[in-house]
Amino acid sequence: MILSSSQIFKGRISRALQACRVRILQDRALHGAAAAETAERDKKMKTFDDLPGPSLLTNLYWFFIRGYLLHTHELQQIKYKHYGPMFRSVIGRYKMVTIMDPEILELVLRQEGKYPMRSEMDVWKDHRNLRSLSYGPLTEEGHRWHNLRSALNKKMLKPSEAKMYAGSINEVVSDLIERIRDLRRDSPSGNTVNDIANVFYRFAFEGVSYIVFETRIGCMSKQIPLETQKFIDSIGFMLKNSVYVTYLPPWTRKVLPYWKRYIEGWDNIFDFGKKLVDKKMSEIQARLGSREEVQGEYLTYLLSSGNLSLPEVYGSVCELLLAGVDTTSNTLSWSLYHLAQDPELQQFLHEEVAQAVPGDRIPTADDIAQMPLLRAVIKETLRLYPVVPVNARIITEKEVTIGDYQFPKNTLFVLNHYAISRDEKNFEQPERFLPQRWLRRWFRDHKMKNNPFSYIPFGYGIRACVGRRIAELEMHLTLSRVIKKYEIRPDPQGGNIKPMARIVLTPNKPINLQFLERKAL
Ligand code: HEM
Repeated sequence: MILSSSQIFKGRISRALQACRVRILQDRALHGAAAAETAERDKKMKTFDDLPGPSLLTNLYWFFIRGYLLHTHELQQIKYKHYGPMFRSVIGRYKMVTIMDPEILELVLRQEGKYPMRSEMDVWKDHRNLRSLSYGPLTEEGHRWHNLRSALNKKMLKPSEAKMYAGSINEVVSDLIERIRDLRRDSPSGNTVNDIANVFYRFAFEGVSYIVFETRIGCMSKQIPLETQKFIDSIGFMLKNSVYVTYLPPWTRKVLPYWKRYIEGWDNIFDFGKKLVDKKMSEIQARLGSREEVQGEYLTYLLSSGNLSLPEVYGSVCELLLAGVDTTSNTLSWSLYHLAQDPELQQFLHEEVAQAVPGDRIPTADDIAQMPLLRAVIKETLRLYPVVPVNARIITEKEVTIGDYQFPKNTLFVLNHYAISRDEKNFEQPERFLPQRWLRRWFRDHKMKNNPFSYIPFGYGIRACVGRRIAELEMHLTLSRVIKKYEIRPDPQGGNIKPMARIVLTPNKPINLQFLERKAL
């Protein structure tokens, strides 16, 4: 019964979308008296309350009784079947419109305006306000965010700029390869690495710190320096406690321990970041004092360009670091997990890499252009495991029109990328790991024409991921080196591993893999 009403609704939405397109064309042709007619018609636009959607009780039932709190990505697919591609829900003070269809998603994103806002991130801002710190790119909004992004975008967003970091990334990848060698050698089987996500986590931490702070922080050594370990633990501590402080009412902050722990976590993160920034700043000043040339990478550029104040640099580097670790490390882990299950695909990939970089040569950023399958493996991993499975937009500047619905300013749109990229309407055999679907030949043979909004793993528009180019380069350079050196096999005791939604999509249990050394071609 519910299903059939949702089918009717789906039909209505697509008719509404059609109507919307037709109306835009008609509106252009209207003048004078006709405009009054338009205003009359606008009055009859449908609203949030006309949308179908689960009640608060139904949501609580699915979260807590059916246990979907850490599996919200799967719940999205269930809700899609019940309520169709656009539905409403109310949680706390938020009225949310959830989008599950690339065409509707496109309509929302194209109306996002000059200063797109993702979500309020209140609890992050509460910390900055409490300690009088500056916001970073994740928390800042409006024209101040725009100024910040204009400064941060430089030396990051273009592939040609990201190439600059290939040397630093490759240095950390070399350490990763050594770490894998040691871990497998020390394992009882002599070839197994347990919990590869943890190995990649430390690697990604070192990589992004090296780029952002221009300093090695020791995550790849056997014994991580105490200060670095405290910093890593503080991030975990802050994230864990942030779940409680987000959902508990503010009055509990004085009586329950979570708020204090959450703030303590952030304080340690900022202390660590500030120390590294201050050290770099003194180096730059000393060089300027002795009239030496100031050279360096990202932090040097941020500090010496004069576009950001010192507090803005502290806020920005800490947030860059937080955004740049789980994202690449989880994607690399999922890609190895799937490659391990498909020896034939892995063999093709190995041959591609070995041909592009024969012998002992280390791949460079330019070599990646010769590796279409490698790039396709990362793309396909991000389709099946979008690190941000659910994104959001609050459109503050104007009302949003979708078909014959009109939503007021400040409506929270929830963008369900996970459901969209696993929908068979958007991708053939959507649950299968098929990197070849991203190769030109596949498009030609299958006559595929995807709506580009069915796959936007790095987000959309001017608020999209600032670290995209660096992330891609890091993942490509890493995967090519690992695949060139090792044949990856699944752990025979490993079983099926499923994603779990913890802000980003993480494996629900450790991914253990066998690394068998390959003979050089
Ligand atoms: C697999 C790797 C990554 C993926 C899939 C990814 C994905 C995303 C997505 C989906 C967003 C939201 C975009 C939007 O709302 O339209 C985002 C934002 C962001 N990402 Fe990434 N990211 C990755 C790696 C990185 C790295 C390595 C860094 C830093 C070096 C980084 C820094 C940021 C920052 C600062 C933002 C916020 C931008 C803003 O609000 O202006 N990301 N990322």
